[in-house]
Amino acid sequence: MGKGKLAKFSDMETFENVFQYTYGVWRESGKPFEKKGQWNTYFGNNNPIVLELGCGKGEYTVAQAEQNADKNYIGVDIKGARMWTGAKQALQKGLKNVAFIRTSIEMISAFFEKGEISEIWLTFPDPQMKKVNKRLTSSTFLRLYQQILATNGTMNLKTDSQFMFTYTDELLKANNIQPIERITDLYASTKANDPVLSIKTYYEQQWLGRGITIKYLAFPLDDRNSFTEPDVEIEFDTYRSFGRDARTILNNGKMNADKKEMSFSEIQNYVRQQLAKYKFKKEPQGLYEPIAYELVEIGGKRLRPAFTLFACQLYCGEVQPALSAALGLEMFHNFTLLHDDIMDNADKRRGKPTVHKVWDENTAILSGDTMMAKAYELIAKTKNKYMPAVLKHFNETVIGVMEGQQYDMNFEKSTKVSINNYMEMIRLKTAVLLAGSLKIGAICGGADKKNANALYDFGIGVGLSFQLCDDILDVYGDTEVFGKNIGGDIVENKKTYLYLKALELAKGTPDEEALINWFSKETFDRDKKIKAVTDIYNRLNVKKATEDEMNRQYEVAVKALEKTTLNDEQKSALVKLANDLLKRES
Ligand code: IPE
Ligand code: IPE
Ligand code: MG
Ligand code: MG
Ligand code: MG
Repeated sequence: MGKGKLAKFSDMETFENVFQYTYGVWRESGKPFEKKGQWNTYFGNNNPIVLELGCGKGEYTVAQAEQNADKNYIGVDIKGARMWTGAKQALQKGLKNVAFIRTSIEMISAFFEKGEISEIWLTFPDPQMKKVNKRLTSSTFLRLYQQILATNGTMNLKTDSQFMFTYTDELLKANNIQPIERITDLYASTKANDPVLSIKTYYEQQWLGRGITIKYLAFPLDDRNSFTEPDVEIEFDTYRSFGRDARTILNNGKMNADKKEMSFSEIQNYVRQQLAKYKFKKEPQGLYEPIAYELVEIGGKRLRPAFTLFACQLYCGEVQPALSAALGLEMFHNFTLLHDDIMDNADKRRGKPTVHKVWDENTAILSGDTMMAKAYELIAKTKNKYMPAVLKHFNETVIGVMEGQQYDMNFEKSTKVSINNYMEMIRLKTAVLLAGSLKIGAICGGADKKNANALYDFGIGVGLSFQLCDDILDVYGDTEVFGKNIGGDIVENKKTYLYLKALELAKGTPDEEALINWFSKETFDRDKKIKAVTDIYNRLNVKKATEDEMNRQYEVAVKALEKTTLNDEQKSALVKLANDLLKRES
């Protein structure tokens, strides 16, 4: 837990590297700031002084100071609680070339003489799209910076905002100022590994996590008497309409309890609560009761909707925009289970008798069909902006699952199934739904195509690994925990990875013949078949071979995350998720 705001403020009173000199303090004291023109004495050297305006937590200030002992750095911000972090760090690291001033940027000329500053950094300033006078690169502010900056000192702007970048760029053009550096996508540029430019502030990481590129401009500032404002219309950043809000959430989850970021298991619980609220019609009972039974009463792990909401939260800081789509995906998943259990002759799911056992097959078919319509009803509640993309991906997902299920059925009767055929079948019947859930969530969170597709690829890897694990559990699981009857796949002649690997390893041995024999019998004793096949699996150690393949797919999944612009913390959260699923027992 971090310290409270007040504790930080009083801490800062004791920090020798912090000067809290707000307008109120200045007015009361009636004196100019005592270090104005004296900063070299304060630092005890004649090194150049670099200012970071709007320094927030001071990441740039501290990191630059660490990199360059031959310069002095001063962070300026009015937000003291954030500055505390940087000031504390600088003290702990014993950095003598760092100071912080808590004041408003408008007052900056009260602190420095003309020429006392050699360079200014603006890191992720608010673009102030509607208030040019408050924009930190506007002519108003440039005039202010001239009062403290050395003639032709350097201005640096690092921003996520296309608006801010374009505005500043246009302003430079309008004033005939030649940029020293002008980069539209820093991390795709040759400067990606520049030690100073690649310092990432907290905000920057959040923006990167949302798939937004970082822009950079450096330019000299001379002593001209006026600047011309650019006469162009600049498109506003669309993401900022909710982005500012998300920025607050991302910055401080505690600020608003409703909007606090949730962990994956919190999201799973949240989905449970949301589904529990779902109202079903009463009549005809035979149609609606099974839906409530499958979806709410017995319910499952809620992985798919949780994936959707988790992905959405990664990109916009909240789950709400993806909620109806997430519920639609869970509704669809439960529908597939109703039909799958008929197709697989399965009597047990989630520790309870399956719908076609409690009621009958026709009921399971019709209730399932209704759930499919309900799924579309929920999907259709997605915000207009994302609706076409969500619907498109949902449709592709649905069709993929159906194709996979058909292959699964075909393979029961085929003796010519390869491991590749199997991988493609499980990609369709299982992985596309997990992947689609992630992608749809990312889309609702405002992620760009590159990110949404990378999450999809991650989901495919996770999904393949998940189904391989399901196949292992179907033989080696504990019914009490797994919730399904063990041996169902063997009884139904499912061409699982275990079976296909066993065939491959047993080639030319009596086990090969025995396997083929068991999988072609019309009549047999259920328990005997399960035992005989399991014995062969054990002899050939196919469980281990399947686990190896699971791990390979997990690696593929993790690799796909590299293509996202998520930050390390967010990537680790996804990796942890994938890892937890590898160890699932139910
Ligand atoms: C079951 O999926 C179907 C498979 C793809 C193996 P889950 O194991 O996610 O099912 P529930 O919803 O948690 O019961
Ligand atoms: C899961 O295949 C695919 C779908 C339900 C679409 P399984 O048939 O292996 O799933 P479980 O084991 O019955 O849950
Ligand atoms: Mg099944
Ligand atoms: Mg099945
Ligand atoms: Mg299964």
